[in-house]
Amino acid sequence: MRFPDNFIWGAAAASYQIEGAAYEDGKGLSVWDMMCRQPGKIWERNTGNVACDHYHRYEEDVGLMAEIGLKAYRFSISWPRVLPEGIGKINPKGLDFYDKLVDALLAKNIQPWATLFHWDYPYELFCKGGWLNRDSADWFAEYAQVIAERLGDRVQNWMTQNEPQCYIGAGHYAGDHAPGLKMGVAEIVRMIHHSLLAHGKAVQVIRSSAKATPRIGAAPVGIVRIPASSDPADLAAAKKAMFTVGKDITWNNSWYTDPMILGSYPEEAMPDFEKFLTTLRPGDMETIKQPLDFFGVNVYSGDTVRAAENEKGWESVKDGDGPALTTMSWRVTPDALYWGPKCFYERYNLPVVITENGMANTDWVHSDGKVHDPQRIDFLQRYLRSLGKAIEDGVPVEGYLQWSIMDNFEWAFGYKQRFGLIYVDYNTGERILKDSAYWYKQVIAENGANL
Ligand code: GCO
Repeated sequence: MRFPDNFIWGAAAASYQIEGAAYEDGKGLSVWDMMCRQPGKIWERNTGNVACDHYHRYEEDVGLMAEIGLKAYRFSISWPRVLPEGIGKINPKGLDFYDKLVDALLAKNIQPWATLFHWDYPYELFCKGGWLNRDSADWFAEYAQVIAERLGDRVQNWMTQNEPQCYIGAGHYAGDHAPGLKMGVAEIVRMIHHSLLAHGKAVQVIRSSAKATPRIGAAPVGIVRIPASSDPADLAAAKKAMFTVGKDITWNNSWYTDPMILGSYPEEAMPDFEKFLTTLRPGDMETIKQPLDFFGVNVYSGDTVRAAENEKGWESVKDGDGPALTTMSWRVTPDALYWGPKCFYERYNLPVVITENGMANTDWVHSDGKVHDPQRIDFLQRYLRSLGKAIEDGVPVEGYLQWSIMDNFEWAFGYKQRFGLIYVDYNTGERILKDSAYWYKQVIAENGANL
């Protein structure tokens, strides 16, 4: 299999999931710090207080990334570490941390890919109404400015926000992510609007403040539909299913990504949701739609659909008993990395970057002292072959950022779920490269020729 010569092979992680140092060096509180204090919210009362202790071990971690041969590392910045109250006073030590991390990466020839927001929202801003408050867009722009001014001479690849579907849907509707609320549809639509405005303003700020010419995207969830057959009716049904908003406003692609790229909310969903766009002002859609350089998207699984004679025009097809599942109980569906990039490219006409893909597995240290994870190797191989096929069929895919570089705090699942290429012993902090890390190293070295 051939990948483009300059293909970006990388891996990803996020601040709250790996850094630890939750109460050090002047960092402010985030909604995840507060979530972890609440009994019953997180598996076995785990917290991100120490996590992988990456805040102190970042040099060692960057060394391991270099050993694997990563060309890029996607990390996120903890907003309250840099601005303890979300706006206003800057915490110099917090900013220094990211400065040193970026330098360490560059010293090893690893491109830093920075995500501004991967869910650790400043608690002080949450108390001012958080994303419900229209000012949240300006708060985010202020934060983006601080980061772009400090890191924008060296960071060139930016993602504004990670998975608004999750921090809004799981955080404010289902209530199992921070801040743990169950709001109504009206509030959800309002928050999405403000998060989109925040995205647009951040893109403007990065373009005007970063010294090195930036390349900017976002990292939404990719909800992927796989056609059940090559029958044109099934293909059309899968595409329709992928971009229909449906009744659940929290879990869809187009309500979140159409405004950013096409400049409008999807027409077909307006009868249901327009009435909740109470804070929309003239000019907002122009602010939200900023030129983007790539379509970043997180893809883990896909749902198989076929044409059906029902109101929607399609139906899900489950693959019977005993499907292949990861320990998250997510279906293993390699075709998602073919149909996802293909359909997003067709709709948005931007080069694609897979900003996350990977699996949680039953990883432990075997009696020979190594961590054998053949399932992960098989998973990644199958998914990457699908991605390669999409590239062969003409989809411009620029990069693949595996989730995750190391085991980490998997939100409400705490440390129960291991997604890493690198095993982390949370008692000692010891890191062990899993078999999949050595395998990925080979993939990178051969630019995918061995897939
Ligand atoms: C995401 C999540 C990651 C998760 C990963 C596995 O972006 O989807 O933000 O933080 O750890 O997806 O669930």
